[in-house]
Amino acid sequence: MEMQDRTVIVTGGASGIGRATALLFAAEGATVALGDVEADATETLAREIVGRGGRAIAVRVDVGDAGQVQAFVDRVVADLGKLDVMFANAGIAHSAPFLEHPEAQWHRVLRVNLTGVFLCCQIAARQMVRQGGGRIIATASINGFRGVENLVGYNVAKAGVIELTRTMAVELAQHQITVNAIAPAQIDTRLTRSLPDEARARRLARIPMGRFGEPEEVARAALFLASDDASYVTGHTLAVDGGYLAGGLWSASGTGRLPT
Ligand SMILES: NC(=O)c1ccc[n+]([C@@H]2O[C@H](COP(=O)([O-])OP(=O)(O)OC[C@H]3O[C@@H](n4cnc5c(N)ncnc54)[C@H](O)[C@@H]3O)[C@@H](O)[C@H]2O)c1
Repeated sequence: MEMQDRTVIVTGGASGIGRATALLFAAEGATVALGDVEADATETLAREIVGRGGRAIAVRVDVGDAGQVQAFVDRVVADLGKLDVMFANAGIAHSAPFLEHPEAQWHRVLRVNLTGVFLCCQIAARQMVRQGGGRIIATASINGFRGVENLVGYNVAKAGVIELTRTMAVELAQHQITVNAIAPAQIDTRLTRSLPDEARARRLARIPMGRFGEPEEVARAALFLASDDASYVTGHTLAVDGGYLAGGLWSASGTGRLPT
Protein backbone atom coordinates (compact mmCIF):
# COMPACT_ATOMS: atom_id res chain seq x y z
CA MET A 1 0.00 0.00 0.00
CA GLU A 2 2.50 2.58 -1.23
CA MET A 3 -0.11 5.36 -1.54
CA GLN A 4 -1.88 4.90 1.79
CA ASP A 5 -3.46 8.18 2.95
CA ARG A 6 -2.37 10.05 -0.19
CA THR A 7 -4.76 12.16 -2.22
CA VAL A 8 -3.98 11.97 -5.91
CA ILE A 9 -5.36 13.86 -8.90
CA VAL A 10 -5.27 12.03 -12.23
CA THR A 11 -6.17 14.14 -15.27
CA GLY A 12 -7.26 12.26 -18.36
CA GLY A 13 -8.45 9.68 -15.85
CA ALA A 14 -11.31 8.37 -17.97
CA SER A 15 -9.30 6.10 -20.23
CA GLY A 16 -5.95 4.64 -21.22
CA ILE A 17 -2.92 5.52 -19.11
CA GLY A 18 -4.92 7.73 -16.72
CA ARG A 19 -7.48 5.00 -16.07
CA ALA A 20 -4.79 2.37 -15.40
CA THR A 21 -2.94 4.75 -13.08
CA ALA A 22 -6.10 5.63 -11.15
CA LEU A 23 -6.87 1.93 -10.63
CA LEU A 24 -3.31 1.17 -9.50
CA PHE A 25 -3.06 4.15 -7.13
CA ALA A 26 -6.46 3.33 -5.63
CA ALA A 27 -5.39 -0.30 -5.14
CA GLU A 28 -2.30 1.06 -3.35
CA GLY A 29 -4.48 2.95 -0.88
CA ALA A 30 -4.78 6.41 -2.47
CA THR A 31 -7.92 8.48 -2.64
CA VAL A 32 -8.14 9.31 -6.32
CA ALA A 33 -9.73 12.39 -7.90
CA LEU A 34 -10.38 11.75 -11.58
CA GLY A 35 -10.50 14.82 -13.82
CA ASP A 36 -11.53 14.50 -17.44
CA VAL A 37 -13.77 16.08 -20.06
CA GLU A 38 -15.51 12.71 -20.42
CA ALA A 39 -17.78 12.95 -17.38
CA ASP A 40 -19.70 9.68 -17.86
CA ALA A 41 -16.61 7.49 -18.27
CA THR A 42 -14.94 9.16 -15.30
CA GLU A 43 -17.95 8.62 -13.07
CA THR A 44 -18.17 4.98 -14.15
CA LEU A 45 -14.52 4.48 -13.22
CA ALA A 46 -14.97 6.20 -9.85
CA ARG A 47 -17.87 3.83 -9.12
CA GLU A 48 -15.70 0.88 -10.17
CA ILE A 49 -12.94 1.95 -7.76
CA VAL A 50 -15.42 2.42 -4.92
CA GLY A 51 -16.96 -0.98 -5.78
CA ARG A 52 -13.51 -2.53 -5.32
CA GLY A 53 -13.28 -0.99 -1.85
CA GLY A 54 -11.27 2.07 -2.87
CA ARG A 55 -11.92 5.81 -2.65
CA ALA A 56 -12.49 8.02 -5.71
CA ILE A 57 -14.34 11.06 -6.93
CA ALA A 58 -15.02 12.14 -10.52
CA VAL A 59 -15.01 15.74 -11.71
CA ARG A 60 -15.63 17.06 -15.20
CA VAL A 61 -12.73 19.37 -15.97
CA ASP A 62 -11.14 20.79 -19.09
CA VAL A 63 -7.44 21.08 -18.23
CA GLY A 64 -7.01 23.97 -20.68
CA ASP A 65 -9.33 26.19 -18.66
CA ALA A 66 -7.63 27.80 -15.64
CA GLY A 67 -10.91 28.47 -13.84
CA GLN A 68 -12.00 24.84 -14.14
CA VAL A 69 -8.62 23.53 -12.98
CA GLN A 70 -8.67 25.89 -9.97
CA ALA A 71 -12.22 24.78 -9.10
CA PHE A 72 -11.16 21.13 -9.42
CA VAL A 73 -8.20 21.52 -7.06
CA ASP A 74 -10.31 23.59 -4.63
CA ARG A 75 -12.97 20.86 -4.60
CA VAL A 76 -10.38 18.13 -3.97
CA VAL A 77 -8.92 20.05 -1.04
CA ALA A 78 -12.39 20.89 0.36
CA ASP A 79 -13.76 17.34 0.02
CA LEU A 80 -10.64 15.24 0.58
CA GLY A 81 -8.58 17.53 2.82
CA LYS A 82 -5.35 17.85 0.81
CA LEU A 83 -3.53 17.17 -2.45
CA ASP A 84 -0.39 15.02 -2.36
CA VAL A 85 0.13 14.02 -6.00
CA MET A 86 -0.79 15.68 -9.30
CA PHE A 87 -0.60 13.36 -12.33
CA ALA A 88 -1.02 15.80 -15.24
CA ASN A 89 -1.73 13.26 -17.92
CA ALA A 90 -4.62 14.43 -20.13
CA GLY A 91 -3.65 14.69 -23.78
CA ILE A 92 -4.88 14.76 -27.36
CA ALA A 93 -3.27 14.50 -30.78
CA HIS A 94 -3.85 15.82 -34.26
CA SER A 95 -2.16 14.17 -37.20
CA ALA A 96 -1.34 16.18 -40.32
CA PRO A 97 1.75 16.84 -42.46
CA PHE A 98 3.66 19.94 -41.37
CA LEU A 99 2.94 21.79 -44.62
CA GLU A 100 -0.80 21.31 -44.15
CA HIS A 101 -1.10 21.36 -40.38
CA PRO A 102 -4.08 23.63 -39.57
CA GLU A 103 -3.26 26.49 -37.22
CA ALA A 104 -6.47 25.80 -35.28
CA GLN A 105 -5.28 22.25 -34.50
CA TRP A 106 -1.84 23.56 -33.48
CA HIS A 107 -3.55 25.81 -30.91
CA ARG A 108 -5.97 23.06 -29.79
CA VAL A 109 -3.20 20.54 -29.12
CA LEU A 110 -0.92 23.06 -27.38
CA ARG A 111 -3.82 24.26 -25.23
CA VAL A 112 -4.48 20.79 -23.80
CA ASN A 113 -1.05 19.15 -23.92
CA LEU A 114 1.13 22.07 -22.79
CA THR A 115 -1.00 24.85 -21.30
CA GLY A 116 -3.14 22.19 -19.61
CA VAL A 117 -0.08 20.66 -17.94
CA PHE A 118 1.20 24.12 -16.95
CA LEU A 119 -2.13 25.04 -15.34
CA CYS A 120 -2.62 21.73 -13.52
CA CYS A 121 0.94 21.78 -12.17
CA GLN A 122 0.96 25.47 -11.20
CA ILE A 123 -2.37 25.33 -9.39
CA ALA A 124 -1.48 22.02 -7.69
CA ALA A 125 1.95 23.34 -6.71
CA ARG A 126 0.46 26.41 -5.00
CA GLN A 127 -1.59 24.05 -2.83
CA MET A 128 1.44 21.80 -2.19
CA VAL A 129 3.53 24.81 -1.11
CA ARG A 130 0.87 25.58 1.51
CA GLN A 131 0.97 21.94 2.65
CA GLY A 132 4.79 21.76 2.79
CA GLY A 133 5.42 19.35 -0.11
CA GLY A 134 4.08 17.06 -2.78
CA ARG A 135 4.69 15.17 -5.98
CA ILE A 136 4.02 16.29 -9.55
CA ILE A 137 4.19 13.91 -12.50
CA ALA A 138 3.45 14.92 -16.08
CA THR A 139 2.92 12.69 -19.09
CA ALA A 140 5.29 13.75 -21.85
CA SER A 141 6.13 11.42 -24.76
CA ILE A 142 9.07 10.07 -26.70
CA ASN A 143 7.79 12.54 -29.31
CA GLY A 144 9.22 15.26 -27.09
CA PHE A 145 12.69 13.92 -27.99
CA ARG A 146 12.20 12.86 -31.61
CA GLY A 147 10.76 14.43 -34.74
CA VAL A 148 7.88 12.06 -35.37
CA GLU A 149 6.22 12.84 -38.70
CA ASN A 150 2.75 14.40 -38.99
CA LEU A 151 2.54 15.39 -35.33
CA VAL A 152 4.24 18.75 -35.14
CA GLY A 153 1.89 20.35 -32.58
CA TYR A 154 1.91 17.24 -30.41
CA ASN A 155 5.70 16.88 -30.56
CA VAL A 156 6.31 20.53 -29.66
CA ALA A 157 3.86 20.35 -26.76
CA LYS A 158 5.58 17.23 -25.39
CA ALA A 159 9.04 18.81 -25.73
CA GLY A 160 7.58 21.74 -23.79
CA VAL A 161 6.36 19.41 -21.05
CA ILE A 162 9.89 18.01 -20.66
CA GLU A 163 11.36 21.50 -20.20
CA LEU A 164 8.45 22.58 -18.01
CA THR A 165 9.26 19.58 -15.80
CA ARG A 166 12.90 20.63 -15.43
CA THR A 167 12.02 24.26 -14.68
CA MET A 168 9.37 23.35 -12.13
CA ALA A 169 11.74 20.87 -10.48
CA VAL A 170 14.36 23.58 -10.00
CA GLU A 171 11.90 26.17 -8.66
CA LEU A 172 9.83 23.86 -6.47
CA ALA A 173 12.62 21.83 -4.84
CA GLN A 174 12.84 24.41 -2.03
CA HIS A 175 9.21 23.57 -1.21
CA GLN A 176 9.83 19.80 -0.98
CA ILE A 177 7.93 19.22 -4.21
CA THR A 178 9.44 16.82 -6.73
CA VAL A 179 8.52 17.15 -10.40
CA ASN A 180 9.11 14.42 -12.95
CA ALA A 181 7.71 13.34 -16.30
CA ILE A 182 7.11 10.05 -18.04
CA ALA A 183 7.81 9.63 -21.75
CA PRO A 184 5.83 6.66 -23.03
CA ALA A 185 6.35 5.28 -26.50
CA GLN A 186 3.63 3.26 -28.13
CA ILE A 187 1.15 2.29 -25.45
CA ASP A 188 -1.91 0.30 -26.40
CA THR A 189 -4.63 2.91 -25.78
CA ARG A 190 -7.34 4.65 -27.79
CA LEU A 191 -4.71 7.15 -28.94
CA THR A 192 -2.61 4.52 -30.72
CA ARG A 193 -5.50 2.20 -31.66
CA SER A 194 -6.80 4.99 -33.91
CA LEU A 195 -3.61 4.84 -36.02
CA PRO A 196 -3.82 3.16 -39.44
CA ASP A 197 -2.36 -0.39 -39.50
CA GLU A 198 0.59 0.74 -41.59
CA ALA A 199 1.48 3.50 -39.09
CA ARG A 200 1.20 1.01 -36.18
CA ALA A 201 3.46 -1.45 -38.00
CA ARG A 202 6.12 1.21 -38.65
CA ARG A 203 6.07 2.22 -35.00
CA LEU A 204 6.34 -1.38 -33.87
CA ALA A 205 9.39 -1.86 -36.09
CA ARG A 206 11.20 0.86 -34.10
CA ILE A 207 10.70 -0.73 -30.68
CA PRO A 208 13.55 -3.07 -29.68
CA MET A 209 11.26 -4.97 -27.31
CA GLY A 210 9.03 -5.73 -30.30
CA ARG A 211 5.66 -4.89 -28.77
CA PHE A 212 3.44 -2.00 -27.74
CA GLY A 213 3.37 -1.23 -24.02
CA GLU A 214 0.37 -1.66 -21.75
CA PRO A 215 -1.15 1.30 -19.85
CA GLU A 216 -0.38 -0.55 -16.60
CA GLU A 217 3.34 -0.43 -17.42
CA VAL A 218 3.16 3.38 -17.49
CA ALA A 219 1.04 3.38 -14.33
CA ARG A 220 3.77 1.49 -12.46
CA ALA A 221 6.33 4.13 -13.47
CA ALA A 222 3.97 6.83 -12.17
CA LEU A 223 3.59 4.89 -8.92
CA PHE A 224 7.38 4.78 -8.52
CA LEU A 225 7.71 8.53 -9.10
CA ALA A 226 4.93 9.22 -6.58
CA SER A 227 6.34 6.82 -3.99
CA ASP A 228 8.87 7.30 -1.20
CA ASP A 229 11.34 5.27 -3.30
CA ALA A 230 11.68 8.30 -5.62
CA SER A 231 12.35 10.80 -2.80
CA TYR A 232 15.58 12.12 -4.42
CA VAL A 233 14.41 12.00 -8.05
CA THR A 234 13.35 15.32 -9.55
CA GLY A 235 13.49 17.04 -12.93
CA HIS A 236 13.75 13.68 -14.67
CA THR A 237 11.82 12.38 -17.68
CA LEU A 238 11.53 8.62 -17.46
CA ALA A 239 11.12 6.83 -20.80
CA VAL A 240 8.71 3.90 -20.69
CA ASP A 241 9.26 2.91 -24.27
CA GLY A 242 10.49 -0.65 -24.78
CA GLY A 243 13.89 0.75 -25.77
CA TYR A 244 12.65 3.14 -28.51
CA LEU A 245 14.82 6.10 -27.46
CA ALA A 246 17.86 3.87 -27.03
CA GLY A 247 17.70 2.80 -30.64
CA GLY A 248 20.15 4.04 -33.24
CA LEU A 249 21.03 1.64 -36.01
CA TRP A 250 19.75 -1.74 -34.98
CA SER A 251 18.27 -4.80 -36.57
CA ALA A 252 14.71 -5.77 -35.79
CA SER A 253 15.47 -9.35 -36.86
CA GLY A 254 18.17 -9.60 -34.21
CA THR A 255 20.79 -10.91 -36.68
CA GLY A 256 23.08 -8.00 -36.00
CA ARG A 257 23.36 -7.37 -39.76
CA LEU A 258 22.40 -3.72 -39.98
CA PRO A 259 21.33 -1.96 -43.16
CA THR A 260 24.06 0.35 -44.45
N1 LIG B 1 -0.72 5.93 -25.95
C1 LIG B 1 0.53 6.25 -26.23
O1 LIG B 1 1.23 5.54 -26.96
C2 LIG B 1 1.14 7.50 -25.66
C3 LIG B 1 2.49 7.72 -25.93
C4 LIG B 1 3.09 8.85 -25.41
C5 LIG B 1 2.37 9.74 -24.63
N2 LIG B 1 1.04 9.50 -24.39
C6 LIG B 1 0.33 10.47 -23.57
O2 LIG B 1 -0.35 9.80 -22.53
C7 LIG B 1 -1.43 10.61 -22.08
C8 LIG B 1 -2.67 9.75 -21.97
O3 LIG B 1 -3.01 9.28 -23.27
P1 LIG B 1 -3.67 7.86 -23.56
O4 LIG B 1 -2.79 7.15 -24.51
O5 LIG B 1 -4.06 7.22 -22.29
O6 LIG B 1 -4.93 8.33 -24.43
P2 LIG B 1 -6.50 8.33 -24.11
O7 LIG B 1 -7.11 9.02 -25.25
O8 LIG B 1 -6.94 6.95 -23.78
O9 LIG B 1 -6.62 9.22 -22.79
C9 LIG B 1 -6.54 10.63 -22.80
C10 LIG B 1 -7.58 11.18 -21.85
O10 LIG B 1 -7.44 12.61 -21.78
C11 LIG B 1 -8.75 13.16 -21.75
N3 LIG B 1 -8.75 14.54 -22.20
C12 LIG B 1 -8.58 15.01 -23.46
N4 LIG B 1 -8.68 16.35 -23.48
C13 LIG B 1 -8.91 16.75 -22.20
C14 LIG B 1 -9.09 18.01 -21.59
N5 LIG B 1 -9.06 19.16 -22.30
N6 LIG B 1 -9.29 18.05 -20.24
C15 LIG B 1 -9.33 16.92 -19.52
N7 LIG B 1 -9.17 15.69 -20.05
C16 LIG B 1 -8.96 15.60 -21.38
C17 LIG B 1 -9.56 12.26 -22.67
O11 LIG B 1 -10.95 12.41 -22.47
C18 LIG B 1 -9.02 10.89 -22.30
O12 LIG B 1 -9.75 10.30 -21.24
C19 LIG B 1 -1.55 11.75 -23.09
O13 LIG B 1 -0.94 12.91 -22.57
C20 LIG B 1 -0.78 11.24 -24.29
O14 LIG B 1 -0.27 12.26 -25.08
C21 LIG B 1 0.41 8.39 -24.88
